[in-house]
Amino acid sequence: MTTMSMKGNTVKGNKILLTAAAVAVSALALSGCSNAGGSSSGDGDGGLIGVAMPTKSSERWIQDGNAVKEQLEDEGFTVDLQYAEDDIPTQVSQIENMITKGAEALIIASIDGTTLSEVLQNAADADIPVIAYDRLIRDSENVDYYASFDNFVVGQQQAWSVLNGLGLTELDGTPIDGAPAGPFNIELFAGSPDDNNATFFWNGAMDVLEPLIDDGTLVVKSGQTDFQQAATLRWDGEAAQSRMEDILTANYSDGTKVNAVLSPYDGISRGIISALTDAGYAVGAEWPIISGQDAELDSVKAINSGEQYATIFKDTRKLAEVAVKMATALLNGEEPEVNNTEDYDNGVKVVPSYLLESQIVVKDNITEVLVDSGYWTEDEIKG
Ligand code: BGC
Repeated sequence: MTTMSMKGNTVKGNKILLTAAAVAVSALALSGCSNAGGSSSGDGDGGLIGVAMPTKSSERWIQDGNAVKEQLEDEGFTVDLQYAEDDIPTQVSQIENMITKGAEALIIASIDGTTLSEVLQNAADADIPVIAYDRLIRDSENVDYYASFDNFVVGQQQAWSVLNGLGLTELDGTPIDGAPAGPFNIELFAGSPDDNNATFFWNGAMDVLEPLIDDGTLVVKSGQTDFQQAATLRWDGEAAQSRMEDILTANYSDGTKVNAVLSPYDGISRGIISALTDAGYAVGAEWPIISGQDAELDSVKAINSGEQYATIFKDTRKLAEVAVKMATALLNGEEPEVNNTEDYDNGVKVVPSYLLESQIVVKDNITEVLVDSGYWTEDEIKG
């Protein structure tokens, strides 16, 4: 309790008493209760920090959760890390629970960025700062800071990776002299419409692709060029697979080939790859160029085998570090470092943000970017 107060000692004076009381009360209230949702707590003697992650069904969030927990524990905090399996009410009640347990700060990667207003009001009433992790939380004034990547650039990088695979540009988007004229058939996928990032990725990608669609270098045979048409609720790979199957049946049964697919996330790319394989496409024989995101292990292997052309690496360890620094600063009464105070308007206010840089990964730089940085081992990638 003493050390916990030390962590929070420069936050408004009442907070310490409030938090201490809340912990005592909830400890009493919760004793004898089972640990709902498989909470995991560290041994730190600092205050409690609640960390809400969307789902374990995607590897990246497991990496994120582990990195945030480990780094917070290194700072002496106790961590309540929860995953909600993409179920919105579960995430809301997990956050409620963290507030009841006396969390001193909340780090939240939301499932649906628009559904947390009420629970965040409760956090604000208890004077608990909130950091939006990777995904912006919308429609609430009670979001203090945002830690993420430059999501518009991520979208551009996805498009550049596709153009690079087609031989049109370098990985940074620089046009290649003597590039093939095309036209190339491309189909477009977007992420979950309730995730603020999905629009940023889409807008970044379309910023690059639209001029080439307009001048006829790229042809979207399905005609599905709107975000809503391309969107994939909950980033669901199976939904993407069946949309790709429908697109292939409706537009490519005449023997024409799809040459490229813009995919915003590795799990979606894997669905697209399954649809293509089922439709008779084979690597090495007019297999299309497919993008991705997150450098998930199975997809890194797919890049090695030529099924996927590229992914975007967002170092979850660095993102965790930003979020942990923000939480620590806030609890010490300091101002967290930010580098963007313009782009992330959540509908109520512009949330001060720290944005990290992402990297394109293709077969040639897997070792340099992912192995040398210690993100994956050589064995994991080969295994
Ligand atoms: C993240 C991406 C991830 C996607 C699906 C987005 O909010 O920024 O890295 O691929 O969610 O989990």
